[in-house]
Amino acid sequence: KEAKLWGGRFEEGVTDAVERFTESISFDKALYKHDIMGSRAHASMLAKQGLISFSDKDSILEGLDQIEKQIEKGEFVWRTDREDVHMNIEAALTDLIGEPAKKLHTARSRNDQVSTDFRLWCRDAIDTIISHIKHLQVALVSLAKKNTGVIVPGYTHLQRAQPVLLQHHLLAYVEQLERDAGRLVDCRVRLNFCPLGACALAGTGLPIDRFMTSDALGFTAPMRNSMDAVSDRDFVLELLSANAIIAMHLSRIGEEWVLWASEEFGFITPSDSVSTGSSIMPQKKNPDPMELVRGKSARVFGNLVTLQVLCKGLPLAYNRDLQEDKEPVFDSVKTIIGMLEVSAEFAHNITYNHERIQKSLPAGHLDATTLADYLGIPFRTSHDIVGRAVALCVYKNCQLRELSLDELHGINKIFDEGVYDYLGVENSIKKFSSYGSTGSECVAAQLDFWVSRLDLN
Ligand code: ARG
Repeated sequence: KEAKLWGGRFEEGVTDAVERFTESISFDKALYKHDIMGSRAHASMLAKQGLISFSDKDSILEGLDQIEKQIEKGEFVWRTDREDVHMNIEAALTDLIGEPAKKLHTARSRNDQVSTDFRLWCRDAIDTIISHIKHLQVALVSLAKKNTGVIVPGYTHLQRAQPVLLQHHLLAYVEQLERDAGRLVDCRVRLNFCPLGACALAGTGLPIDRFMTSDALGFTAPMRNSMDAVSDRDFVLELLSANAIIAMHLSRIGEEWVLWASEEFGFITPSDSVSTGSSIMPQKKNPDPMELVRGKSARVFGNLVTLQVLCKGLPLAYNRDLQEDKEPVFDSVKTIIGMLEVSAEFAHNITYNHERIQKSLPAGHLDATTLADYLGIPFRTSHDIVGRAVALCVYKNCQLRELSLDELHGINKIFDEGVYDYLGVENSIKKFSSYGSTGSECVAAQLDFWVSRLDLN
């Protein structure tokens, strides 16, 4: 058995069970690129500060290049007895270039190394997630563009409320996604500070230049406090929280599409390419992808809770518990990317059933509020008058616009012929004009905004 990198003071090796239990190489090898980036920056800084020779630095950089290539070609052997990604790469570098590799860990600990690697990894993950959010926004805006002028029932309490333009409805989701991306951008700004040089927890007496490594790795600045740098994972919690909110939004879209694809609604037909069948019921065509979007939100929420519980009892500074921070994040990021991808795919493959939607519009007295708005008397009084008109419709099983003027006069003398201008969903929609409303001009302006923001011209 090979001696551990940290083996000097030990008289015997760890048991197999301990080795298996404490390893993280099986998952943290995903950090290899960022680990190598960090080592390159660190080695260059050590040379510039006179802590290693320039020729040592050159062999380290060449060795790291080779190792990176081996990993990318799948030729690198990851060893459990070398515990984690940091020691696997350092030990392999020593195998490859000998003595100079042993100088790389000068003024560095795995504690600042792992925090640096993970920040770099999360930073890349954020950029990828944001690009997937944009793709979904594009899919939703394209769907809106294909459905100009379509009116759908707007719901509150899942009861019919007021008529809205389908475009308005779809653009509501686009707005939510924009804030989701904004949360990730904020998280990125806050996480982008460099822990490298914090060493184990206390910093070092060696003349390192933390500003140089921070710059080389694209961080805003080195972290001010070495103990903070190695001990906190709040940046991970922020990413997981942002993902949890995205997952919640996507789950709601999923729920709605599943509902709207049902026979009972029948408002949308997903294409066969985004549907699956039943192993027993030959007639079935199910919206499984969106059910799974709804379902997978559960694990994204779970990962956030895992990290919160993981961190809440830890005294300063680094604790090995923190090794458990990786898998929930890898899972959360992978899951959220899949959810965004498949939601965009689904959006590109939805047809709105205009006829079916149109036929359903007379139900639910969607125009009642428009009528109440326009009676021109104190709102509480008009609410009451229109309420009685609705009660008459319920009794007669008809729509508001089917009531005769005589019948309306039976309720209140205030009504005149002009009332029919406010009745029916088409008339009703025309009356909306407030900023952000579902009125045609307001919605056209919203659509213009998104078309130019997302470069869809
Ligand atoms: N594999 C560890 C982690 O992910 C790296 C840091 C280990 N440090 C230590 N002193 N054991 O957190």
